[in-house]
Amino acid sequence: MRKDKPSRTAYKVALNIVTLAAKPGMDRLLPPGTVQATEKLLVASGAVDARTVRWSRSQRMVSVYQAFDWMMPGQFEAFAYRKAFCERQVRDGIGAGAAQILVLGAGYDTLGWRLAPEFPGVNFFEIDRPATACLKANGIAAMGQRDNLCLIAEDLGKRKLADVLKANELWDESARTVILAEGLVMYLPPEAVRDLFCQCAAVSGAGSRAAFSYIPAGADGRPDVGRWTGLMLWLQKAVGEPWMWSIRPEELDRFLEKSGWTNAPALAGTTLKHGVEFYAVATK
Ligand SMILES: C[S@@+](CC[C@H](N)C(=O)[O-])C[C@H]1O[C@@H](n2cnc3c(N)ncnc32)[C@H](O)[C@@H]1O
Repeated sequence: MRKDKPSRTAYKVALNIVTLAAKPGMDRLLPPGTVQATEKLLVASGAVDARTVRWSRSQRMVSVYQAFDWMMPGQFEAFAYRKAFCERQVRDGIGAGAAQILVLGAGYDTLGWRLAPEFPGVNFFEIDRPATACLKANGIAAMGQRDNLCLIAEDLGKRKLADVLKANELWDESARTVILAEGLVMYLPPEAVRDLFCQCAAVSGAGSRAAFSYIPAGADGRPDVGRWTGLMLWLQKAVGEPWMWSIRPEELDRFLEKSGWTNAPALAGTTLKHGVEFYAVATK
């Protein structure tokens, strides 16, 4: 992955969310305020200019995304389902007593910024590589800081999550926590994914949950996104953010068990797959 430049995939997810706002029906699916906050953040951070945001929120861009849907069927709309899934996990987790939210590989996600004022007794943490996190921090500063939102700029490939959090005086290892890894684990090497789950288990209290999306593995063990898998793998590599990890859904129980978690499909909801990604929830 390109480590010294802001993530292109994070930028792409954010612009996709903006375009979804122009597609009828999507406003009912996307969590309230998501599109407006994403637009503000993209401009305030300097990631894109206002013109690009306006252009993204147009029927023309909806048509462009739909024209490319053959590559990964359903993936355009899937980002709305993914945002809704993550927000539901956080709200349910807080309802069940979570006092901390940790968003890993947060990109330009706005959940922390939007929900922090609604839940002043909950601490929100976000981590991303410095190039993306610093850009986002500029945007958040312009939009209005939240007392209970902490943005952490760290490359989790260079520094262990447990060390990063231990160094943060607000982090409470014994607190019930909701951990989100949305569109992240496919970009990490296999050993890093297992290690990340083990560390998440080690730094969170009883009753915590981890919600994440992942790309299923095919018979050859590589990420499988259908007919155009080879092309997608090549494109991801070409933009410097290759897909490195995937797993067969039937192997998830065992993988999570070995990493200190229990697969909890009942918490994930009835539809576990949208576009090319599966959604999963694990508890401890
Ligand atoms: C596809 S984007 C998803 C962004 C966000 N979760 C969303 O769905 O809107 C993946 C994000 O993971 C971050 N990321 C990837 N590897 C990372 C690492 N080793 N340490 C910290 N962040 C990482 C990237 O910088 C990027 O922002």
